[in-house]
Amino acid sequence: MTQNVRDLEADVDHVMIDQAQLQARIAEMAQAIEADFAAEEDLLLICVLKGGYVFLSDLSRALKRPHELDFMGVSSYGALTESSGEVRIVMDLKQPIAGRNVLIVEDIIDSGRTLDYMRRNLLARSPASLRIVTLLNKPSRRAVDVQVDYIGFDIPDEFVVGYGLDFAELYRNLPFVGVLKPEVFSD
Ligand code: IMP
Ligand code: MG
Repeated sequence: MTQNVRDLEADVDHVMIDQAQLQARIAEMAQAIEADFAAEEDLLLICVLKGGYVFLSDLSRALKRPHELDFMGVSSYGALTESSGEVRIVMDLKQPIAGRNVLIVEDIIDSGRTLDYMRRNLLARSPASLRIVTLLNKPSRRAVDVQVDYIGFDIPDEFVVGYGLDFAELYRNLPFVGVLKPEVFSD
């Protein structure tokens, strides 16, 4: 029945962070976020699309406190595995954020250019506060200094896929964070 379906997992060289590690860390991150906001305080999570959608889904469900969600689509021009720093908003928020407590939800911070752009763009809209949570962080690749409030995992300088992260728009649905076989990039 499934014999003609392409096996994405066959392209994976190794798993870097498995499902259990992801879920355990996300539970800890949700607790840290809850500790930083008073019980009745307003909170708006802004998911950076596309890559942030899986993390947002798990983080939102791990948070027991009330919160609202909004989405922002950004796209950076550049090569397949590296962003150029030229960021474009391809889908904007549905609502104003003036006076709101905003938490940006990102999948990964690499050079920091995408987040730096997001941060400056959102700060210009006068939120009451602006914090950043990222699942993954590649500290060795940072070109723009951007302060991150919550980090799931610091990872080495390797291109990763899965759990929302893509290579050429594929592999986002893998339930773990993994590294592709070298031949996948040259095919
Ligand atoms: P930055 O602007 O260089 O920080 O890049 C951030 C964006 O590049 C992320 O939101 C991802 O879309 C993409 N990116 C950076 N590193 C990786 C990776 O290892 N795998 C998949 N996408 C990545
Ligand atoms: Mg991407």
